[in-house]
Amino acid sequence: MFDQTIRPRRLRASDNLRRLVRETRISPESLIWPVFVIEGEGVYEEIPSLPGQYHYSPDQLGRMVERAHAHGVSRVILFGLPAHKDERGSSAWDENGVVQQGIRKIKALAPEMYIVTDVCMCEYTSHGHCGILCGHDVDNDKTLEVLAKTAVSHVRAGADMVAPSDMMDGRVAAIRRALDENGFIHVPIMSYAAKYASSFYGPFREAAGSAPAFGDRRSYQMDPHNGREAMRECALDAAEGADILMIKPAMPYLDLMYRCRQRFDLPVAAYQVSGEYAMIKAAAKADLIDEYGVMCESAVCIYRAGADILITYYAPELADAIRKGD
Ligand code: PBG
Ligand code: ZN
Repeated sequence: MFDQTIRPRRLRASDNLRRLVRETRISPESLIWPVFVIEGEGVYEEIPSLPGQYHYSPDQLGRMVERAHAHGVSRVILFGLPAHKDERGSSAWDENGVVQQGIRKIKALAPEMYIVTDVCMCEYTSHGHCGILCGHDVDNDKTLEVLAKTAVSHVRAGADMVAPSDMMDGRVAAIRRALDENGFIHVPIMSYAAKYASSFYGPFREAAGSAPAFGDRRSYQMDPHNGREAMRECALDAAEGADILMIKPAMPYLDLMYRCRQRFDLPVAAYQVSGEYAMIKAAAKADLIDEYGVMCESAVCIYRAGADILITYYAPELADAIRKGD
């Protein structure tokens, strides 16, 4: 016979008690909202692949700021859709590029908004790869130069933090050096440290117009079969001076979130990517799941695994849910 003195259900008896003994406590302050800025004027359009998310031209960013304010969200990560693309992605570091315009606009409207920028070439190159091509492959070291120029240009426009997502070797060091040489020694780098070659980015590539014109990203993004390699990537980025490490995608890669949190003392960010968001939206639309419940639970699971920061398209709705204690 079991001794029935130990009863885990004792601590589940009431809502009040359950909240008292919660292990995972989340704050809306840990949320970052991805925002798509598109070149042009008067554009405010829902993105078909990401219901509830919008393309904003710089002049329409007030709508984004209002929605963020309404939900108490004050951190965003910007992605750009330029009017012109070329082989080298030169509009990425144009002082008047779409992200640079977006940053200035947001800072003018809401100086307290903390602006992170995604630093990558795929939205700006005519071929859609994340760097400078040499034949059919991305040339690592040539790409470092343009990534560094792009990061500096974002910060000159007013970005508070840069987040390189290209997965080139040595890019954190290259960007750190360039920022420091330009006097931006206090601007942090959030590295997409372990970013996988994932099919979960589909809706984003649709939204950003950044799908590669040929081939795939497997020569630079990570193979989903590998876990230990993610720790090597994190260790390298930490050594190169990354201030925050990111694991991406989030829910299918919680083992790495956990390992990263155990192994490193830097803040760890999770990116709940477009496919994760779109799957929840689609399943809810088909009446298969309760959207609110799954939104909350998926976030809790990501934090429970060790994330300190969550980048999610649900940031506004999630901020409200967290405040309610859901
Ligand atoms: C750019 C970039 C991508 C994402 C973030 N930055 C796409 C990609 O690597 O193809 C994906 C974000 C998402 O799916 O929500 N390299
Ligand atoms: Zn890219």
